[in-house]
Amino acid sequence: MTTIPREADFDRAPSLVEGATSVELTPRTANLRYWLAAVPQGTLVGRPDGHDPSLSVPDFMREPGPLRDALIAEYAFRSVAEDKAARALGYLVAIAPDTDTMEFYATQVLDEARHAMVFRNHLLSLGVPPDNLGRAIEAFAGADIRAVLDPLEAFGLEVMRDDADFLGGVVTMAIIIEGALAPAAELSERKWRPLDPAAAEIDRGAGIDEIRHLSVGAAIAKQHLADHPADRERALELVARGMRMWTVLPVHDLVLRRERLFQRGLERHADVVGDYEIWPGRLLVDTTPEERLAAADGWSLEMRRSRLTDIGLEDAL
Ligand SMILES: [Fe+2]
Ligand SMILES: [Fe+2]
Repeated sequence: MTTIPREADFDRAPSLVEGATSVELTPRTANLRYWLAAVPQGTLVGRPDGHDPSLSVPDFMREPGPLRDALIAEYAFRSVAEDKAARALGYLVAIAPDTDTMEFYATQVLDEARHAMVFRNHLLSLGVPPDNLGRAIEAFAGADIRAVLDPLEAFGLEVMRDDADFLGGVVTMAIIIEGALAPAAELSERKWRPLDPAAAEIDRGAGIDEIRHLSVGAAIAKQHLADHPADRERALELVARGMRMWTVLPVHDLVLRRERLFQRGLERHADVVGDYEIWPGRLLVDTTPEERLAAADGWSLEMRRSRLTDIGLEDAL
């Protein structure tokens, strides 16, 4: 009988935003041995597709309409984001300076590949025919993938593959890419909960993994800077470059478009949502697209601030 650490326990883990700012893990404590007990035998037990198999997708989510379109667009985009992350992280495995960090990034490659799989599979649960999967992803998310993910991928590959810059890659993943995309995932879990509980469980599971990725990534960067203080300037420059890139990527447009589509579906299915609260004291049915976007933005800022401070790169703020 293995005990599942609290931060990896499906029912007891904190939320992503809370966990990513409070859980302390290092590559030594979250090595391969830890992962085997915590993830395949912990988080994932009974949820091979990321959710309890007894949860099926409600009929109204499979019918054509704004709600289904919003979720297909979101999961198509995120499945490609996870796929790209898994591939890029392979370069960090190759240049990891020691066994603990090599093992950690090997587990993260597998985590991201699994996220890509569960998002993709949920598109099938929403009624996308398997033969049509590639075309559906292109139709629903192709333009956003090119506008947002391709530049992020190019940035990451330049650092990790072309420059073989280990610290740069760690910071790029934990601060610039995942740290910035993660809060949208937390929003997703909260808003889909009453409408598509299987999707909310998929988000929850990915969020639990993300707590580990963000906290270990920060710990690795922190340790590296303690051992190699001369690398600090370069890391600060990279974070600044990454944050500048975020200001020009059309992420707000993308999220707002998705939230507006969701809003139309929400109005249509207000009876299903009932008095569900998206956060304490706030009914989901009373929220607006702008309000939900602002909440995700606020979490993003808070997470970035706490991570950068933790690593010792608060000057980048
Ligand atoms: Fe992921
Ligand atoms: Fe991740």
